[in-house]
Parts: sequence; C-alpha cells; structure tokens
Amino acid sequence: MEKPADTHYPIHELLKRRWSPRAFSNRPVASDTLRSLLEAARWAPSSSNEQPWNFIVATKDEQAEFSRLLSCLVEGNKLWAQHAPVLMVSVARMSFEDDGKPNRHAFHDVGQAVANLIVQATALGLMAHQMAGFHPDKVRELYGVPKEFEPVAAIALGYPGDPQSLPERLRTRELAPRERKPLAGFVFTGRWGKTSPLLAS
Ligand SMILES: Cc1cc2nc3c(=O)[nH]c(=O)nc-3n(C[C@H](O)[C@H](O)[C@H](O)COP(=O)(O)O)c2cc1C
Repeated sequence: MEKPADTHYPIHELLKRRWSPRAFSNRPVASDTLRSLLEAARWAPSSSNEQPWNFIVATKDEQAEFSRLLSCLVEGNKLWAQHAPVLMVSVARMSFEDDGKPNRHAFHDVGQAVANLIVQATALGLMAHQMAGFHPDKVRELYGVPKEFEPVAAIALGYPGDPQSLPERLRTRELAPRERKPLAGFVFTGRWGKTSPLLAS
C-alpha cells in the first residue's frame, strides 16, 4: 500500500513515499540489504563526527534473538511488530569518547542516522516503523548496554504487507490519512513564533 505525503511544496520522491506501516510482508530481508541500510546510517553527519549511534539488530531467521528484541516492545507494538522480519533498537552514546563530557546532540545524531537508514530502506522498497513504545531498561538489562549509552528507539523493518492482515483497530489507523502541521506554525524569522516571510506566498 502507498500513502504518499500530500505536500504543499515539491519534495524528493523517497521522502514523499516513506511512511510508517504496521502491516509487513513475511518476506525476509537479505543480509546484503541490511548491510546497505546500516552503511547508510554510518554515513550520517554528527556533532564532532562522534558517530554516537549503535544498533541492536535481530532478524526472524534467528528466532531466539528476534524474540529477545520483541520482548522489549510494549504490548501495543508487539501486536504488529512481531510480523516484521527485522527489529532494531537504536542506542546513543551520551558522552564523548575522548573526554567523557556530555554530548547534547547524541539523540539528534542517532535520529539522523536512522533517517538515513530509512531513506535507504525506502529506496530499496522496504518500509520502517519507529517506536518509542519499548522498555529501555529491559534493553539495557538483556543486552548489557553500558551506563554511558541510552536506548533511543525501536524500529520494525520489512517489505510492505497487506493492511487487511491487521486487526480492525490497527487497519483503520493504517488506512487513515497522514497529517502534518503547516509550515507556518514552526518556521520563524526575527522572533520566536513569528512566521517566516518565506511562507507568505
Ligand atoms: C521516535 C518515534 C517513536 C514512535 N513511536 C511509535 C510507537 O511506539 N508506536 C507506533 O505505532 N508508532 C510510533 N511512531 C510512528 C509515528 O506515529 C509516525 O511516524 C507518525 O504518526 C507519522 O506517520 P508517518 O511516519 O507514517 O508519516 C514513532 C515514530 C517515531 C519517529
């Protein structure tokens, strides 16, 4: 199923096509493809080129590993994410490697790496759905994540599936239109809250 963004101004086809489905096909994702996605993440920009991103990855062909990662999701997300062939959790290193000082851009940079990964996934015909609904402390415990690292978001990934395979409540959400706030509400010039004249026309 396609749900292209209804944009006010033209954007790149890949950005227009990306969305967050809950229905995934059971088609596995080849290891080469997964490596390309992670390579795309690797080439994201980051503050001081610190590259604070890390990824815990589990594929369905390793059932025990998949179950371990799935067990970190909240129930509402488990319901649909269990059918995706790949699960990930992004993890940020919260302090700089050389001096241990806090890196206030760590989450920002991990988000950029994930955005790269998702654009690459879209280019390869894959879909991704990020999740705040997971248990960071469980990830920390099950995977032995050291204290200077923070689990950021879970990600379900795979090829698009059939929305009809979802339970009714999720199917309704799957078919609902995608919405965004208008640009004028968050692009300012001169003073906080003052819509930029860029958007006047
Ligand atoms: C950091 C983050 C956390 C999210 N958490 C969840 C989640 O726990 N469960 C869920 O179903 N969707 C989750 N989403 C998906 C958003 O609801 C979705 O991106 C948003 O509604 C916009 O829809 P679109 O991605 O299809 O454009 C999350 C997205 C992001 C980026």
